[in-house]
Amino acid sequence: MKNRKPLIAGNWKMFKTCLEAVETARQLVKLIPDNTTVDVMIAPPFTSLMPVSDVMKGSCVSLGAQNLFWEPEGAYTGEISSGMLVSAGCKYVIIGHSERRQYFGETDVTVNKKIKAAIKDNLIPVVCVGESEKERESSHTFSVLDKQVAKGLENFVSSDLETLVIAYEPIWAIGTGKTATSKQAQAVHQYLRLLIEKKFGNNLANSVRILYGGSVKPDNIKELMLMPDVDGTLVGGASLNAETFSKIVNFQI
Ligand code: PGA
Repeated sequence: MKNRKPLIAGNWKMFKTCLEAVETARQLVKLIPDNTTVDVMIAPPFTSLMPVSDVMKGSCVSLGAQNLFWEPEGAYTGEISSGMLVSAGCKYVIIGHSERRQYFGETDVTVNKKIKAAIKDNLIPVVCVGESEKERESSHTFSVLDKQVAKGLENFVSSDLETLVIAYEPIWAIGTGKTATSKQAQAVHQYLRLLIEKKFGNNLANSVRILYGGSVKPDNIKELMLMPDVDGTLVGGASLNAETFSKIVNFQI
């Protein structure tokens, strides 16, 4: 029996206009029972944060952002700060998604700065890590994760990271339909928990939630969630449709 409350998070990436986002959020709120035993988060594009926040008020679905910039304010055209996200109703922020690392030059160093900014404003950071197909095939999965965790979480102490969520997202499984098997996911999650234990001690290792992401669907959620170190999922494509996402959230029913 896990003592960590599962988190099922949806990442809408660059999909949905404001109207579409509000409509999907409305449907979602209706489909997820108030007494759900898991935490639920949706991360729409920045433009839809406020209107979606209004729809979700009073429901058990929380709002997250897909990115942030580490400075509190200033002449940084096009960027959004943690304070702005809080003011738009966000509780969570996704940091270091592989698409941001791949297309927008994010590194472990920028990830580190973003985590710092998020926790300063009491946003829950959902920090993404994961290896590419080439790295897995050349048996570098664990060394890639070693570096991402060591650098991404550098200079923090365990009390800084009480709310930390880690999302293990093997790049080869994102949007490809190739899910890691539950055994593959468990092996990596166990390894990540061990890394946290070595660096920050037993308490944080036991409480940190480690999500799996990469082609999660209603038909593979149960199997993944049965794994002792899988504490939830970060869902991309399958979170865009309210009915499909609600089936993932309601996986126990
Ligand atoms: P996917 O995306 O579920 O579409 O594979 C997961 C993610 O990128 O967070």
